Amino acid sequence: MPATDRKWWKEAIVYQIYPRSFQDSDGDGVGDLKGILSRLDYIKSLGITAVWLNPIYSSPNDDNGYDISDYRGIMREFGTMEDFDALLKGMHDRGIKLIMDLVVNHSSDEHEWFQQSRSSRTNPYRNYYHWWPAEKGTPPYRYSLFDVNHDAWAYDSLTNAYYLHYFSRKQPDLNWENPKVRQEVYDIMKFWADKGVDGFRLDAFQFAAKDTTFPEFPKGYEKNFTLYYAMQGNLHEYLKEMNREVFSKYDVMSVAEGAGNTFEDAHNLVDADRQELNMAYAFEGVDIAKPEGYSLLTFKEVFSRWDSSFAEKGWLSIFLANHDQARMVSRFGNDSPEFRAPSSKMLSTFIMTMRGTPYYYYGDELGMTNGDFQRIEEFRDVQTLNEYQYQKNQGADMARFLERKKFESRDNGRTPFQWDDSRHAGFTTGTPWIKVAPNYKTINAAAQEKDPNSCLNYFRELVKLRKNNLALVYGDYTLLDEANPNTYSYTRELDGKKFLILLNFTSTPASTNTGLDVSKARVVLGNYPQPSRDGKLQPYESVIYELP
Ligand code: NOJ
Repeated sequence: MPATDRKWWKEAIVYQIYPRSFQDSDGDGVGDLKGILSRLDYIKSLGITAVWLNPIYSSPNDDNGYDISDYRGIMREFGTMEDFDALLKGMHDRGIKLIMDLVVNHSSDEHEWFQQSRSSRTNPYRNYYHWWPAEKGTPPYRYSLFDVNHDAWAYDSLTNAYYLHYFSRKQPDLNWENPKVRQEVYDIMKFWADKGVDGFRLDAFQFAAKDTTFPEFPKGYEKNFTLYYAMQGNLHEYLKEMNREVFSKYDVMSVAEGAGNTFEDAHNLVDADRQELNMAYAFEGVDIAKPEGYSLLTFKEVFSRWDSSFAEKGWLSIFLANHDQARMVSRFGNDSPEFRAPSSKMLSTFIMTMRGTPYYYYGDELGMTNGDFQRIEEFRDVQTLNEYQYQKNQGADMARFLERKKFESRDNGRTPFQWDDSRHAGFTTGTPWIKVAPNYKTINAAAQEKDPNSCLNYFRELVKLRKNNLALVYGDYTLLDEANPNTYSYTRELDGKKFLILLNFTSTPASTNTGLDVSKARVVLGNYPQPSRDGKLQPYESVIYELP
């Protein structure tokens, strides 16, 4: 392929770190930047090429850093700017790029801008946020994802007005229609880009632009709120402006969380000729798994549909987990002792062999599972806690609610990294801010380092393979044996190099009929000692072949 078509961010393998839970260095029970710094050699050993850090800015932590009170400061629990500079240097010295999470759909209510804004109706910062004067009556209903009443308008008696918050009350939405707000954000982005960061992930950005006349939405719209919230008004103009002001001036990658409601929405964000963002991060795939299970046919259909829509233009992110989801192996695989390791390796194989930039979530390389949350007091996540309150107020069946949250709460994906079998999994010498998953005695990095067949070492092989084969990054994707409900088979092909990937998504043996003869193909990597040679796959088997 022509060298000019190659881009570092397409070839990147992103490892996502939830800093609060990676490594604590000072015994306060909260992960921190020095902790990550002390683990950089481990991170490098994975072979990944970029790290996405969830927010590390100053924050009162209503939503674990997604509520920023100073965009140029470091969260007290996480360390100092010197720690940050050392971390960035440590990454760059090891050839790892750093992607920052930028949360600018909203700020914290403790940010100076909001403090000013709420202080009087005539304050110069008033228009940094969305206010609805109470004399106009109750504002048209807006659904809030985290509010205890699901109400995105909060009344503030100080100025007798409501402010808008799509997330929690402590996360007021910024007014992107105000050019001053936009300029503030670009300045913040330049501050970090000048420091040398390599990219930005724009949190909840599809919601940033709003119709500030706040029209009534149809009754029940909240069941499908992205239809009304995403890609509104001048969003694309703002992204073009951000691109002119920031992205075009640095070699940074850009990705926004969420890709709207249609392929057209997603393409409008990322097609190169539009000069907005680099790649789409869409949820349809990751949303497939439900507590009651999922259909592999749907999974294949969704990923294939997205791939074909982006085959010629635009670029995608590929992921099955992040900090807003329960663990990959518990949702998409099988976390029983018997099948945890093979199913986790199989899912990793999928992520690393699809077209798009893989985003791989910390701990998944060990096959870390969901946590063990039993009582509501054990949960930490604002979304889970506020929804609990909401359901309780509605008189809902709380035992049922809890059962569901045990499986799907975001806290499941936020438990401390399992370094070894020492107390608290080697994460902290203090009391962890959130429960460590009890299986850390057997599932941990130290044990897996020693085991050549571990999930960890298998992941390293996968990463090597992807880095050494452009066909796995850019190659055409072709789905085979489409109607097979148990297996996922596809080829990736570029410039005469062709890989075949066979994945069994079930806990029983399954056969795939691809029409291709693999008896003479080279097995490049498999998760069983005797990889399949005839399309008959063992439970959760994955095999990558190079075809002659
Ligand atoms: C999306 C983030 O990924 C999530 O963790 C956060 O709670 C919301 N946006 C609000 O910032």
